[in-house]
Amino acid sequence: MSDILRIAVQKKGRLATDSNRLLDEAGLGFFRNPGALTCRARGLPVELLFVRDDDIPSLVAKGVCNLGIAGENVLREEALENPDTQELQTVRALGFSRCTLKLAAPKEGKIRTVSDLQGLKIATSYPQILGVYLKEKNIQAKCVTLKGAVEIAPALGLADAICDLVSSGATLAANGLCDFARVMKSEALLVRSNTRWSAAQETTLARLLRRIDGIIASRATKYIMLNAPKSAVDEITALLPGADAPTIMPLAGRDDQMAVHAVCREEIFWDTLEALEARGANAILVLPIEKMMG
Ligand code: PRP
Ligand code: ZN
Repeated sequence: MSDILRIAVQKKGRLATDSNRLLDEAGLGFFRNPGALTCRARGLPVELLFVRDDDIPSLVAKGVCNLGIAGENVLREEALENPDTQELQTVRALGFSRCTLKLAAPKEGKIRTVSDLQGLKIATSYPQILGVYLKEKNIQAKCVTLKGAVEIAPALGLADAICDLVSSGATLAANGLCDFARVMKSEALLVRSNTRWSAAQETTLARLLRRIDGIIASRATKYIMLNAPKSAVDEITALLPGADAPTIMPLAGRDDQMAVHAVCREEIFWDTLEALEARGANAILVLPIEKMMG
């Protein structure tokens, strides 16, 4: 049994960009030669395999790879089509590549709700997920399967509506389409095989997960520094989102002011900054956190 942990990631596409960034930040230290489909990491005993995202579930299910990073949408479609891939275990939800599988139709047309789809044609890259959804809604419609550029189907007369992933919504808008129903939400998941692993592979996964958890936590966390009038320190610290036990220090030469430093585990919006300022906070700095552990 190999001691190298093999991870399948998307070869190219949006998921690939986000996956590579995560693995890079996790200190894998890999350099992929253009065109190379495998690559050995230097920072951990890991080998990366660059494949098509819809092949990831079955590569992991077969144990060819120990782990894979894939979208929930692809994992679900594969699980419905190929029962072998139902056994995959989700190790982490990674919080990136978030999108929603939606039904959409031409803006100027008559389709406004799911029940308007009765007897019509729907183009999609996710025929299995769509099939289950339509069955639940008691809609009989014909699925036209396209691997990509699904949004072009209504204009070509191939379908009346589409069912495709929406992230920013720009592709729908650019093609004169309007969404009217949500089929499923999706994000990237780290999944593992149910096959037997060596002890060394388990150890590497545990190290990798600790790092990934640190990255996910630090992405959601900011460090805030500000000066506050002594009289308003309590009120100001109470406004800091998700901050426990801020550090409060005297400011040299300023008897009326204190410095407040805190780790905020929730997003700091502009209106929070405005509320802090309204209570006398000044010199407010919000800093990203690069790494977290412990
Ligand atoms: C994906 C998806 C949508 C689009 C959604 O396509 O299938 O078409 O992105 O993104 P948006 O809401 O931000 O515009 P992709 O770029 O992967 O191309 P493909 O479907 O042709 O493979
Ligand atoms: Zn697309």
